Order: sequence, then structure tokens, then C-alpha cells
Amino acid sequence: MDPVRNPYAPGAGQRPPELAGRGRELDVFDVVLERIARGRPERSLMLTGLRGVGKTVLLNTLRSQAINRLWGTGKIEARPDQSLRRPVAAALHMAVRELAPRHRAPDRIDAFLGVLKAFAQRAAPTGRGGAAPKLRDRWQPGIDVPASSGRADSGDIEIDLVELLTDAAAVATDVGTGIAIFIDEMQDLGAEDVSALCAACHELSQLGAPLIVVGAGLPHLPAVLSAAKSYSERLFRYQRIDRLDRIAADQALCAPAEREEVEYEQKALDLLYEKSGGYPYFVQAYGKATWDHAPRSPITAADVRVAAPEAEAELAVGFFGSRFERATPAEREYMRAMATLALVDGEESGRDDMDAAVPTAEIARALGRKPASLSPARDALIKKGLIYSGERGTVAFTVPHFGRYLRTQPA
Ligand SMILES: Nc1ncnc2c1ncn2[C@@H]1O[C@H](COP(=O)(O)OP(=O)(O)OP(=O)(O)O)[C@@H](O)[C@H]1O
Ligand SMILES: [Mg+2]
Repeated sequence: MDPVRNPYAPGAGQRPPELAGRGRELDVFDVVLERIARGRPERSLMLTGLRGVGKTVLLNTLRSQAINRLWGTGKIEARPDQSLRRPVAAALHMAVRELAPRHRAPDRIDAFLGVLKAFAQRAAPTGRGGAAPKLRDRWQPGIDVPASSGRADSGDIEIDLVELLTDAAAVATDVGTGIAIFIDEMQDLGAEDVSALCAACHELSQLGAPLIVVGAGLPHLPAVLSAAKSYSERLFRYQRIDRLDRIAADQALCAPAEREEVEYEQKALDLLYEKSGGYPYFVQAYGKATWDHAPRSPITAADVRVAAPEAEAELAVGFFGSRFERATPAEREYMRAMATLALVDGEESGRDDMDAAVPTAEIARALGRKPASLSPARDALIKKGLIYSGERGTVAFTVPHFGRYLRTQPA
């Protein structure tokens, strides 16, 4: 069928033509926004899940929901080895700029921006060993007011963040609304920053201040947060974002097709679900290839069969390969051992998902190495976001079907 009218959108953060199966999360967030705006106690949301399940897309949708309610919003994508200070300053700057035109006292906004600038400029110099920052390292946040002093500029991120977020929330209170800061890839924040962020959220919730932090990250995000502050479990509501059930996966395919007056035969949908396993990225990838190959509506199972190799080839490059390439030879060896063991475990327990968690001790045994000698590879893979440790002493792939992909790769 006409590839120009192909509605499907496989790709990181690509808005799907139909956001299927996330009604519950959207409803919960509506209630959160309403309660926070009214000064009621409420836990913020943390979305967790594997790669490609739709965390970024959902986070962006929640942001739109906040904007629709006239909240100020900003977004950060956390990166390993990057301090939170500048990105959080930029995100808050954006949020407050959205509120500023509605504020009746411009000097209050300027006062906040002065604090924000001071906060941002406290960023540690990137010069080594405390050397003076080079000129190009002196970041200019694009704020026209002079930096103030005495607030949010102590250099201790925890103190500074509490003060900054409290002041930002006060601006939102003035205009009768709230501020939401969205943090994607949140598991990549440094330990100090996570700790500071939890402390700030804790403080804000005690004050009933209308500012929330909404996060998204890999399945071990809850462990990262509770390692920083034990009370984090009571601070956030974790929502596991998972593969779509059959009804939602069919809707993700059928609703956009219907708008183009195209239909699927039931057997085509059966086969598409079998291939995608309901994982949103795969739903989009198989949907896209099938559309391009199908000669006419209704789309048949035979069309899916013809198109599948192309979808798989694209996934091998764009979804799996791009990640596999980030690993060093030693890390690849580690993951291959994981993939083999996950298969054995999966077969023994009769599970159909063969991306099960694997004990690290077994990986060491399979490779004939001491467990400690494999820690660097394991830690590097966790840092690269390819594997995670949900339970102590085990690891699992963050990428769905990654084990299956690795087993098809020549060693
Ligand atoms: N609810 C949904 N219904 C249909 N398609 C979806 C849905 N959510 C996400 N998708 C599609 O799935 C793909 C992956 O989405 P997204 O990039 O948000 O995943 P992610 O969880 O952030 O992945 P990563 O961990 O790699 O960042 C995109 O192509 C998107 O269009
Ligand atoms: Mg994402």
C-alpha cells in the first residue's frame, strides 16, 4: 500500500499514531495534577520499563497533559557523568518562562531568575583538580537579570536544589498553578544528584508546594532511588510500563489503519502479535513493514509473513545492532553467555520469554572466570544501559528479545 500514507512510527521517542493501552497512566496523572494544584498530598509518578516499551512517548504525553492544564513544564534527559545542575536550571527556566506572562508582579519573576542564575553558575568547573574554568566552560544560562546571592548557591546540590525548587513552586502558587519537571533516563543521574532530588521532593511534598518531578527509566530505577534515600518508595508511585496486551496491540495497529480506510484480517493480527510480543517498538516496526508490502486492504497473514524479514532486518540494525555496537569485545562475550543461559533457564521453566534474569555466578561459571574478574564488564554494561540488575546477584537485558538477537549473531 501507499508508503506515503504509512501511519506507523518505529523509532526512539517517535510519537505513535495511536497511544494504545496507557489510559490508566493518563488517568492517574490527571488526578495527580489536580490534587497537587489544590495543595493536596500526592505522590509523583515514576515510569519504569524495558527499552522500547514507550516510556519517552508516555512522558511526553504526560507533559502535554500538564501544559493543557496551564502548568509550567520543563524536561531533562539525564546522561551518565553529567551533573544535574545545568539541565535542571534550563528546565526550570523554561517552566517559569511559561508562567511569567500570567504573573502580576514581574519583579517576583526577576527575583526568581536571579536565584536560578546563581544556582546555575555554581556548576563545578570542568577543569581538572579544581583548576579555574576555561572561558568556554563558563556557561551563560541566557538569563538577563543579575545573579543574586545567598540562596541556592551554596555549592551543596541538596541544599541548593531544595531552595531553588521551593522558590520555583512559590512562583507557580502565585499564578494558581503548578510546575512539573520531567526527567527521562533517570537511572543515569549521579548518586549525589538522585539523593538531592529525593530530598527536594520530600521537602516540597511536606510543604504542599505545587512542584512535581516525573521520571522515566529502566526497571532498576526504583533501586537507584531507594539506594539514595530509603523514603523514596513513599515519595513516588512507580508505574511499570510493559508490553501491550492483545487488545491494546490490535488497537495500536487498527486505529491508525482505519483512519486510512485499511483493515486487517484476524489472522494477520494474530501473527503480528506473535511476532511483536506486544512490545510497542516491535508493533510499530512490523506494522510499518507489513503496510508497505501489503498489496491491498484487508491486510492478510500472508502479507505479514512476506514483510516480517524486512522488519526483522531493520530491527537488527536500528534497535539491536546500534546497542550491541556500544559494547566492547569482553562485554559482548559477557552478554553472549547471558543469552545462552537465559535460553536454558527459559526452556527448563517452560517460559516463552527467553530474556529471563540470569545469576551472575552462573555467567562466571559458563565463562570459566572468577566472578570478581567480570565485575568491570557487568558494571560497564549497566552504565551503558544494556543490562540491569533487578535482584541482587542477577542480571537481565534491558532490551526485549535481545537474547534472541544475540543468539543469531555469529561469534
Ligand atoms: N502506547 C503505545 N502504543 C503504540 N505505540 C507505542 C506506544 N508507546 C510507544 N510506542 C512506540 O514504541 C516506540 C518506542 O517508544 P519510546 O521511544 O517512547 O520507548 P522507550 O521506552 O522510551 O525506549 P528507550 O528505553 O529505548 O528510551 C516508538 O516507535 C513509539 O512510537
Ligand atoms: Mg526513551
